[in-house]
Amino acid sequence: MEKYEKISELQLRLSELRKDKTIGFVPTMGALHQGHLSLISRSKAICGTTVASIFVNPAQFNDKDDYRRYPRTLDKDLEILENAGCDIVFAPGEKEIYPEKDKRIFDFGNLDKVMEGKFRPGHFNGVAQVVSRLFDIVNPDKAFFGQKDFQQVSIIKNMTLQLNLSVEIVVCPIIREQDGLAMSSRNMLLSDSQRKEAVNISQALLHAKTQAAVTPISEIRDEAVRWINSSPELRVEYMEIIDASTLQPVAGWDEAEEIFACVAVHAGKIRLIDNIQLK
Ligand code: PAF
Repeated sequence: MEKYEKISELQLRLSELRKDKTIGFVPTMGALHQGHLSLISRSKAICGTTVASIFVNPAQFNDKDDYRRYPRTLDKDLEILENAGCDIVFAPGEKEIYPEKDKRIFDFGNLDKVMEGKFRPGHFNGVAQVVSRLFDIVNPDKAFFGQKDFQQVSIIKNMTLQLNLSVEIVVCPIIREQDGLAMSSRNMLLSDSQRKEAVNISQALLHAKTQAAVTPISEIRDEAVRWINSSPELRVEYMEIIDASTLQPVAGWDEAEEIFACVAVHAGKIRLIDNIQLK
């Protein structure tokens, strides 16, 4: 696996590879787990060259402590990527990505007024800044994102439309631990008892799925919130049942073609998100 920290060196190499290979790109913030590896493996299956980036993007953290706490495991990540058969890793420093402060403000309409966008002000503007910058640097044919970050995927798709980018966004399913907890870099920060209780999040969502279509949406939502909050370690920040295309809450099953339940939960200082398709 080749490793680059400098944009100019990475781009020189990619310009050679691009002549006869499609470029697949997996942007990450490191602390890699099986969820990331599923993106790498999807990219390897359909692209000639797979590039992963590791950059903990300060611009997308609205909470300084969350940025400070975010796990940084570069040596282990490089080993994981090498073993997964990733071709190239781009691990830039902050000055390489942001030689100057990025002052761009994106307008995502109502897409970022709900859920993560509502509770983490500025988060998606920071995501759009870094992902557009990384797309500009790597210029991939396809880029791979996990469905766990459901709203992030909508924002990135919208951003590529706004900026008229030709990259194809490939969305890959959520990868779960054996007990059902959605894999996340933040899981490693959970205490033993938080980790044990966190299983309630996916259980509540799975239960909601079994009730879908036959139970009023507000009842499903309230029951899932009660289920999660019944654990002393967990506190629901939001639980929304939404139209997958607009991300706006729906009140009835016939209000949208595809309906998802999305949840954010605090386990102490750690914030976990998950989602499930209900219709
Ligand atoms: O999903 C993530 O890990 C990050 O939001 C991303 C897409 C790598 C941008 O920093």
